Amino acid sequence: MRDFSIEVHGCHEYDATGAISDPIYLSATYRHPSFGHSTGYDYGRMANPTRDRLEGIMNLLERGERSWALSSGMAAINMILHILVPGDHVLLSEDLYGGTVRLAKDIYHAYGLSFDYVDTSDISIVRKAIRPNTKVLFIETPSNPMMRVTDIAAMAETAHRNGALLVVDNTFLSPHFQKPLTFGADIVLHSATKYLCGHNDIIAGILTVRDKNADYTKKLELLIKSEGPNLSPMDSWLLLRSIKTLGVRVERQAENALKIAKWLQAQPAVTDVYYVGLPDHPGYALQQKQATGNGSMISFKVESPALAKAMLGRLKLFAFAESLGGVESLLTYPLAQTHAEMPKELLARTGLDECVMRMSVGIEDVQDLIADLEHALKES
Ligand SMILES: Cc1ncc(COP(=O)(O)O)c(C=O)c1O
Repeated sequence: MRDFSIEVHGCHEYDATGAISDPIYLSATYRHPSFGHSTGYDYGRMANPTRDRLEGIMNLLERGERSWALSSGMAAINMILHILVPGDHVLLSEDLYGGTVRLAKDIYHAYGLSFDYVDTSDISIVRKAIRPNTKVLFIETPSNPMMRVTDIAAMAETAHRNGALLVVDNTFLSPHFQKPLTFGADIVLHSATKYLCGHNDIIAGILTVRDKNADYTKKLELLIKSEGPNLSPMDSWLLLRSIKTLGVRVERQAENALKIAKWLQAQPAVTDVYYVGLPDHPGYALQQKQATGNGSMISFKVESPALAKAMLGRLKLFAFAESLGGVESLLTYPLAQTHAEMPKELLARTGLDECVMRMSVGIEDVQDLIADLEHALKES
């Protein structure tokens, strides 16, 4: 099956009723037929049939062998850092979600892990920064919010040559557009809160691994069953329902995004536009090689911090809000929201300043979205 069909039919199996929509199994525990026999389900933290369906569909979409549906994207990132031991080193993209940096700096640093942030869009910098104790390379591509593109295959090759794992946060593109495991990544994760959900009504995370027998998979399995960060059956079902429309949503969003990015480029008050679907983006060729679409995340700079702040109050259709990936268009001010706790030195290196706005384009009529932006920019 191809992606659009997987998204709709996934792991659905008809039960005796012929129900088209997956049943929701809310049961926390399961009756055993007799001693030594099990239906395959014992207790909801270990496995749940509705969550299993979701995990199965994520295996198919990401071309992985084992997935876990978790209570948030941060729970997924936490599990990855949790498989490491004191003394281990992690190399991360310097331009990435601020919550990942906070988890590293304020929590795992105290447990003896060390972290370095580099421009992973330049593989020569990565090769120089890797150390004998580097156990994980962690990237976002496109990066957040400056939209740099990292070569997944080159990163995987570099990681493996050094005995490290490559982890890709694939939130920005969703598996409909990018499948990092097929380029050699070991673990892919999502804030499923974003495109996978698509309706801004669930907080969820997904982890998918390439090899179900690998040591890191066994460690993740043990951690997840012992610590219990799993997604509830109800939220698992909502995600299953959302994924049925993933392809139509993200393709429509990407179409809208390209039109908006081109329009932004023509605005005198906009000084820079960062969208990986624009042919003059420095990562354009690589993006076309490793993804089948460009997504709908656009960052741009306006001519002054005052205009950036004023725009946020003038928008009517775009909501000034954190998050991304939903059918509703959102405008985020990264410096005060998603990246508020980012160390100043990293902000300076990536060019994330007071003029940067980050946009998640939804499925509305693009002419209405452009009219909203025009009004917000023009009152300057
Ligand atoms: C790229 C990225 N990764 C991870 C996360 C964390 O996900 P969650 O908010 O679902 O915990 C976010 C949240 O904004 C994100 O944007």
